[in-house]
Parts: sequence; structure tokens; C-alpha cells
Amino acid sequence: MNFICDNINKNDVSHLTFAGLDTVELAKEYGTPLYLLDVDRVREKCRLYISSLKKHLGDNVLPLYASKALSFVGIYRVLKEENMGIDVVSGGEFYTALKAGFPSDKVYFHGNNKTDSELKFAIDNNIGCIVVDNLNELNFVDEYCNKISKKQKILLRVTPGIDPHTFKAVVTGNVDSKFGFAIETGQAEKITIEILKKKNVDFYGYHCHIGSQIFDSEPFYDAAKIMTGFIANMQDKYGINVRELNLGGGIGVRYVEDQPCLDIDTILGEIATHIKNACLEAKIDIPRILIEPGRSIVADSGMTLYTCGGLKEITGYKKYLPIDGGMSDNPRYALYQAEYTVYNASRIDDSADTVCDVVGKCCESGDIIQENVSIAFPKKGDIIAVCTTGAYNYSMASNYNKIPRPPIVGISNGTAEILVKRESYEDLISNEL
Ligand code: LLP
Repeated sequence: MNFICDNINKNDVSHLTFAGLDTVELAKEYGTPLYLLDVDRVREKCRLYISSLKKHLGDNVLPLYASKALSFVGIYRVLKEENMGIDVVSGGEFYTALKAGFPSDKVYFHGNNKTDSELKFAIDNNIGCIVVDNLNELNFVDEYCNKISKKQKILLRVTPGIDPHTFKAVVTGNVDSKFGFAIETGQAEKITIEILKKKNVDFYGYHCHIGSQIFDSEPFYDAAKIMTGFIANMQDKYGINVRELNLGGGIGVRYVEDQPCLDIDTILGEIATHIKNACLEAKIDIPRILIEPGRSIVADSGMTLYTCGGLKEITGYKKYLPIDGGMSDNPRYALYQAEYTVYNASRIDDSADTVCDVVGKCCESGDIIQENVSIAFPKKGDIIAVCTTGAYNYSMASNYNKIPRPPIVGISNGTAEILVKRESYEDLISNEL
């Protein structure tokens, strides 16, 4: 039997295993719903990004983990140990990273509407770089830095105008995006001119991010070419020394069998070739190259375990497999009809002959994890595994219906440990006066 990812297998009691451990036993020990995180795999991915970028572009590179994919204190410790940079998109993510002892100079701050207080907090805590998204933000950073006699490193977010062929909600590099300024409309150039007038910012270069869950490599190559051309043009016209080019994240991840497993090293090699050629043609030095993978670092390092409440059949219509979690711990099907592979972890050797919808326990018909799943007949109490949930699950979880968020149990070298505790009912009301 081939499983969706190579950290998934089965054992001789017909249970599903994850990162070498029996998932049914893990569910027994830690309860369900339960997020699992294969920490060794997260480390492997970090090492792959660092070594591959270095191989193709030399030492002047830095991968930044896009922490919106999965943000909690423990993961920032791992990222620090692996010498990664990170991007954050809120004061809260930055605060969490600081609490983990993550070096602030390796943090890049994104967002289309960072508040003044978030910007102050970031600058006061020596954030490495602010990726400026609009003129108000630029003015605020310049004025605040003037007041405290500081010079803040910044990048400018621009949109290269690319359609990356992914689902609409996660496209960001198009001309009319809410993020950044378009090269095409001339606004990216105009704000560059504004930046050059500011005395309290240190302008390092440009950032773009075209979207997420992208399987087609061409849009990445196009972005690299367009951005390099734009940099050459700006250097030529305004005599700027562009020291950094940040190409964002977006590499697609395999959730279901008919999706490909992308080879990260090959894609990075191709992107590097496009950058090198474009720089050669434009006769400019290659700037420091940054990228921001989120999903491709953590998605397949994650799995969620649930307990089945017993199959329900609506005679003549369909079968429902109800689980003890749902859109509160994984809203991605409800939001994007996101695909997932689901297994009955308790009887993995039985034939997958029951077709049903896996549904959550929230009072909402749209609380669906996956439709039309083929799975071994699920009995009440069986452990149901939803794979590839490491990215945008815990970080997008809510307390809808006052459901406590599940814990995260990390697995490393065949040993499991709690990284995030299960929320209690008390936690749910701890801020309520
Ligand atoms: N950099 C920037 C500026 C981004 O906006 C994002 C993702 C990334 C990097 C990381 O992209 P990744 O490598 O993870 O594809 N909640 C959605 C995904 C939203 C992505 C937002 N930006 C989902 O669950 O699919």
C-alpha cells in the first residue's frame, strides 16, 4: 500500500503509523482531536532549502520560513536551531518568535495594513526588516525612526502581475492585489522615488509573492525574470544599489494522490538560472536572494487524528463520518474546498470500500473536512487520520462553538512530546470578564 507521504506507514496490528509511531496509540495517550508534527521532517525541509539555495546561488541567500503556516513558540526554536530566517505578518507572530528567543535581525515583517502599534513594537524590538506595503506605512516608519534616531531596513512589496494558476483566495501577485504596488501601473516606481527621499529608512530592495499552492513552475520563473528586470531598470534610472530580492513562497504540496510531488531542489535550481541569466543580461550584480516557503516546510510534517462518532447513513442519499473536531481545527475545506487524504487509522488493512463525507461537530452544514472519501468501514471509536495538515490548520484554528483547540504533539527520533497543550474549558473563558 502506498501512502500519501513517506513518513506514513502501517504496522503489524493494522494501525497507521506516522513518523514511525502508532497513531492509534498516540490517540489513546494524548486524546483526540490531536495535531501531530514530525519535527525531524521540518528540520529536513529547512536543511534542504538552505543547502539547495546555497548550491545554486552561493552563500548570499536566506530562506525565510513563512510562519503564518504554523506559528507557536516551539517551532521558532526549531527554526532558530536550523539557521532559518522567518517572516511574520503580525505583532503576535513576532512576539511569539521573540518569546522563543528567535533572533530579531532575521525576521521580516509583512502585511498590507500593519498598524502603527505593530510597527512601533517591531522597530522597538529591532526587527530585521519591514516589508513596506503602502505610503502611510512608509511615512510612519520614517517619522517614528526619526523620533528615536534609528534607521530601519526596509524592502518594498511589489506585484509583478502574474497569474499563478492556483485557487483565487491565495493569489497575491496580480496587478489589482490588495498587497503591494504594481510594476505595470508605474506605482512601484513612484513609491520607490518616495522611499529614496526618506532619511530614516535603509532601502534594501524588493519583495514579491505570487500566491500559494502553486504546482506550475513557470510563474516562479516569470516572477524571477520580471523582478530582475525591474531591479535593473530602477538601478539604472535612480542609481539605487538593490541588495536584496525576496521572491516569496508558494511551492505546492501534495495532499492527494493525483497531485505531483514537486522537487524543491529542481525548482530552486531553475529559478536561480533565470535570475543569473537576467542579471547577466541586465549587467547587474545578483542581489541577495530570499524566499519564503511556508506550506512546503510544514504541511506534510503534520497529521490530525480524530475519533469517529459512528457512521450515519441518510438512506438513499449519503453516508456521514462524524469526527470529534472539524472546521474549528481545520477550516480549509469550508474555505477553499481543499483536498485531503483521509485514512481509517484503526483498520488500515481493511479495504477502503465505504464512501462517505467526513464531517465535523460544529453546528454548521458547511463543517466538512472532506467529501466522497473512500475509507475502511468506520466504527464508533475508530481513529480517523487526516494527512498533510501541518500548514494552515493549527494557525487557522478557532474556538467556534466554544470548542477548545487541540494540542500539538511533536515527534522526533521516534519519541513523542507535547509542544502545545490542549486548551481547557477554563482557557476558553480566561479573557472573559
Ligand atoms: N510569503 C508571503 C508574503 C505570503 O503571503 C505567503 C502566504 C507565504 C510567503 C507562504 O506561502 P506558502 O509557501 O505557504 O504557499 N490559508 C491559505 C494559504 C494562505 C497563504 C498566504 N500567504 C491556505 O490554507 O491554503
